[in-house]
Amino acid sequence: MVYLWSGRFAGNFSPLAEKFTSSLGIDRRLGLFDVRGSMAHVRMLGRQKIIPAREARILLTGLRKIKTELEKGSFQFQEHDEDIHSAIERRLVELTGKIGEKLHTARSRNDQVVLDEKLFLKEAVPEMLRQIRKLQLVLVQTAEANRCVIMPAYTHLQPAQPVLLAHHLLAYVEMLERDCGRLNDGLARSDELPLGVAACAGTTLPIDRHKVAAELGFKRISRNSLDTVSDRDFIVEIVFGCALTMIHLSRLAEDLILWSTQEFRFIDLPEQFCTGSSIMPQKKNPDVLELIRGRAAVAAAAVTGLLSLMKGLPLAYNRDLQEDKHFLFEVIDLTVSSVEVMAALLPGVVFHRERMARAAQEGFSLATDIAEYLVEKGVPFREAHRICAGIVRHCLQTGADLKTLSLSSYRSFSPVFEADLLPRLSLRSSVCRRRAIGGTSPVWVTRQLNQWKKTLKSSATVP
Ligand code: ARG
Repeated sequence: MVYLWSGRFAGNFSPLAEKFTSSLGIDRRLGLFDVRGSMAHVRMLGRQKIIPAREARILLTGLRKIKTELEKGSFQFQEHDEDIHSAIERRLVELTGKIGEKLHTARSRNDQVVLDEKLFLKEAVPEMLRQIRKLQLVLVQTAEANRCVIMPAYTHLQPAQPVLLAHHLLAYVEMLERDCGRLNDGLARSDELPLGVAACAGTTLPIDRHKVAAELGFKRISRNSLDTVSDRDFIVEIVFGCALTMIHLSRLAEDLILWSTQEFRFIDLPEQFCTGSSIMPQKKNPDVLELIRGRAAVAAAAVTGLLSLMKGLPLAYNRDLQEDKHFLFEVIDLTVSSVEVMAALLPGVVFHRERMARAAQEGFSLATDIAEYLVEKGVPFREAHRICAGIVRHCLQTGADLKTLSLSSYRSFSPVFEADLLPRLSLRSSVCRRRAIGGTSPVWVTRQLNQWKKTLKSSATVP
């Protein structure tokens, strides 16, 4: 078998080594990006008169045919194709003969593979961002449809203070917004043309990288050949961006799983996104959400995997780098599908508002409100805290609760309590009074909802 590099060797490559080193199984996904990069390269070679214009045209015709074959799925991969780059070059030589052997002029697979990955991400990341935007919109719509629902906020998973469900859901919209920012940043930082640095030191041929960058839509051109062929920061950053997105989805999944338990019964999950048990007839299990939670672990492991891959690499290209694509593709795919499935599941969730409100009443969740009432009357907060803690202890001993305790009982703890305390002892009053920026008051939450609707509408029109 003849490889791109066979000329150097007298004997044959071991079939075992051939199978071991092949990356075609994974990088064939880069086929169309590889062709696009090659076309830009060939046009540049022709313009710069590095190859005759007539030959550049022949190469472009061949590459167009290969593009069609790849699109139609009729491209014939061969057992000995080492990777997508050699498969395409092999096919081009089949189609154009000797001229095809000029394709790889002033280029190496080392800069080529980075180009392909960057072109892939220029499509994959914006698509992921669109999906995340859609999920944000679904969260906003769910929040809006349940605008008045009050639930307990938890700290340490102990009831803490009442909040609007909408406020809780908007917390995830915020997280996803940061995710979009991170993914966009990663993409913007990687917006540098790698092609043209060849194997590691640049080329002696009179190439024009500016034209190639413009044709392929890169803002900048990489400045250091050694860095360019060995840099995978852009993959680490984007995979990390995905991993953190997955962590956020995982936390949302966990909230929903918890809320759907018999113990909480805050929600019913849509049946289309649950499974049954092969033995227990009564079961309705949240497997889809559990898998989102589980796949967040796969994404997090990929970040570690990539960092480990890079850690000990001497400059410049090393074959270890081939393994980056396993992490990259897996994480891109699982993130997109998790975002998609979460956006499809959420509209089917039924919220049990009475149950949620009842839970919000429990656990003395208005104790802070009472302490702040005392503060308004001039009691130092630390003292107010002590008084309220005493009231809670009293309730625990007597089985009373903060809402039913009489005014005279309150007054036995502090003469500062007056009749105007009583209207404060409702969930609605509690959330309505949390008016400072960022709090759960309906006024603020409604403003946030409107803001998000505007932001998401305008971002939906961004290509
Ligand atoms: N399949 C290789 C990769 O993904 C392409 C680059 C090969 N370069 C080389 N010097 N063997 O990294």
